[in-house]
Amino acid sequence: MTNAPPVLPDSAPFTPEQRGWLNGYLAATWTGFAGGGGAVAEAPAGHAVTILWGSQTGTAEGVAKKMAKKLSAEGHVPTVVDMAEFECEGLSALTHVLIITSTYGEGEPPDNAADLYEALMGDAAPELKGLEYSVFALGDNEYPDFCKCGIEFDERLADLGAKAIAPRIDVDVDVDEPFAVWETAVVSSLVIC
Ligand SMILES: Cc1cc2nc3c(=O)[nH]c(=O)nc-3n(C[C@H](O)[C@H](O)[C@H](O)COP(=O)(O)O)c2cc1C
Repeated sequence: MTNAPPVLPDSAPFTPEQRGWLNGYLAATWTGFAGGGGAVAEAPAGHAVTILWGSQTGTAEGVAKKMAKKLSAEGHVPTVVDMAEFECEGLSALTHVLIITSTYGEGEPPDNAADLYEALMGDAAPELKGLEYSVFALGDNEYPDFCKCGIEFDERLADLGAKAIAPRIDVDVDVDEPFAVWETAVVSSLVIC
């Protein structure tokens, strides 16, 4: 049995926002299983990290899953969420968010990111002073609006008061090398206390 914080099962009837918040609560209040002597061991508390992906052909979704695996291995509690299933207001209940999105059309969000993008850019978007985030922007430098969607998510989150914990990375087609850099930067900024 691993001494990791409990995570809601996928079948639990919660929205992605509720799931992210509840997983965060479970992680924050988790004190570990009882040790050999019967005393309850103090386990380090990992962070609840919601990973939102926007993708047209699957690359960003794959990156999101890879990041979740890494964060779990580091003792955090990641929740991977399709942007199409996430309401913008839910951001204000979260503490850590990673945005992984491609850009399509002529500098537009991928289809599954369009509603969240629109809501976030709108006047009704919530203040996000308690939120820490980082953006991994996928694109192709052959297009004039290189990585525009990821860039705009990053700039808007900062405008709404959120704090970047690792610099945005703009990816020119090949994902592996930039992902390794981003993964290291994000993990080292998520200190377990
Ligand atoms: C029709 C089309 C339009 C695209 N438009 C852009 C663009 O405007 N800016 C950009 O940086 N990349 C653009 N791309 C490149 C994609 O963002 C890139 O291939 C990305 O890795 C795809 O990730 P995904 O599979 O998660 O959607 C475009 C790709 C296609 C096929």
